[in-house]
Amino acid sequence: MKTDLATFNPFDAQTLQCPFPHYAQMREEAPVLLVEGIGVHLVTRHDLVMEVLRDPQTYSSLFGGAGMPLNAEARERLSAVVKDGYPRVPTMLTADQPDHTRYRRLVSKAFHPKVIAELEPFVRQLTVRLIDSWIANGHIEFVKEFGVPLPVEVIAHALNVPQSRLADFKRWSDDSIAGIGTNISLDERVRAEGGVNEFQHYFAEQINLRRTDPRDDILTNLLNASIEDDDPEVTDKRPLDMPEMLSIVAQLLVAGNETTTKMLTEMMRLLAENPEQWQMIKDDPSRIDRVVDETLRLSTPTQGMWRVLTKDTELGGTKLTKGSRIVIVFSSANRDERLFDDPDAFDPDRENLRENLAFGKGIHFCLGANLSRLEGRVALEELSKRIESFTLSSTNKYEYFPSFMLRGLTSLDVDFVAVDKK
Ligand code: HEM
Repeated sequence: MKTDLATFNPFDAQTLQCPFPHYAQMREEAPVLLVEGIGVHLVTRHDLVMEVLRDPQTYSSLFGGAGMPLNAEARERLSAVVKDGYPRVPTMLTADQPDHTRYRRLVSKAFHPKVIAELEPFVRQLTVRLIDSWIANGHIEFVKEFGVPLPVEVIAHALNVPQSRLADFKRWSDDSIAGIGTNISLDERVRAEGGVNEFQHYFAEQINLRRTDPRDDILTNLLNASIEDDDPEVTDKRPLDMPEMLSIVAQLLVAGNETTTKMLTEMMRLLAENPEQWQMIKDDPSRIDRVVDETLRLSTPTQGMWRVLTKDTELGGTKLTKGSRIVIVFSSANRDERLFDDPDAFDPDRENLRENLAFGKGIHFCLGANLSRLEGRVALEELSKRIESFTLSSTNKYEYFPSFMLRGLTSLDVDFVAVDKK
């Protein structure tokens, strides 16, 4: 059934559950669609999303925190609570060149493929520990017992957060994404900003401790980095200030946790719905990388991202004016029938799998792509060694997180037969 695109509401409960038929209609009829209610254009075709990603000068990432336009009352109440924390400053995801390049250089060393590869034994050990904790039960709630703890503990490990603070760490991560692409109430938004303040104070203290007691970790590296480190032309080098360091740490937390949780959970759902693929990876684990990528294409966790126009322009025949906001919808581009045959099917053998935009493209290409792919691969390698077969429990409601930016199931009940119990 067709939607009236003139009144399309991305927050509609049914749309949030399954936006894909709407995106398919937009790609056909209005690939740059103004959503009247929120005053934002959605860009849904692969070629047009690429056009935006290739031109960061016109399509700026200086969109601020949650990206949504705010009214005066919201701005006032939020700025009051934000005053109790450090200023929220733009760094990587929310910065433009040349600042973006400088910030990104400072952290890219920590995410170099070689450094990520060295994390594999830790990721595997953690994966095995998580599986051991429930393998005898024959049943799990996958999000809580695997999808959340795996990425949370990996990022916590990278940032040296102790086990005793893991629950806080997850709460801060939830608070940091609470307003992204959601229409939560102003009260909830204010409460979540309070959680972000708590997160800032914790990491500010940790960073300050490293001034006198340096360690071999990302926080110490940020402290020692100079903003113009790699630019021989610049002589007035300065260290990063606290708001900049906190913004970078926050992005690792926010960008790394929820997205990977959502990818892992969708991987299980898709494999339960395609049991022949489960058997195929059990027989041939070298297929796992393809399964991870096809999951990212078909169930893209970061559905979309904001951009702000720096000048009047035209995109796909639609006029856009300076200052207006758009959302590039990666999850729609990834199902574009112009590029992917039978785009709604789960087919890890498709040839052009890697043309999907789940991690973006260009200067903002996901810093953590190698890390998430590593977590996805190790998770499936270990799960497929220990689980013979599994099904999705009849108790499942298949509710998706109510955001049109981040897409993933809130829970997933799984019944399984363990390998040794066959
Ligand atoms: C499946 C998991 C993940 C998905 C789907 C994902 C998706 C994305 C996407 C689409 C972008 C580009 C946004 C844009 O163009 O504006 C991005 C950027 C980013 N991601 Fe990820 N991400 C994932 C995991 C991670 C992890 C594990 C980390 C770090 C620990 C991370 C850190 C970042 C950062 C810092 C950026 C901003 C990079 C920049 O602006 O230069 N992401 N991610």
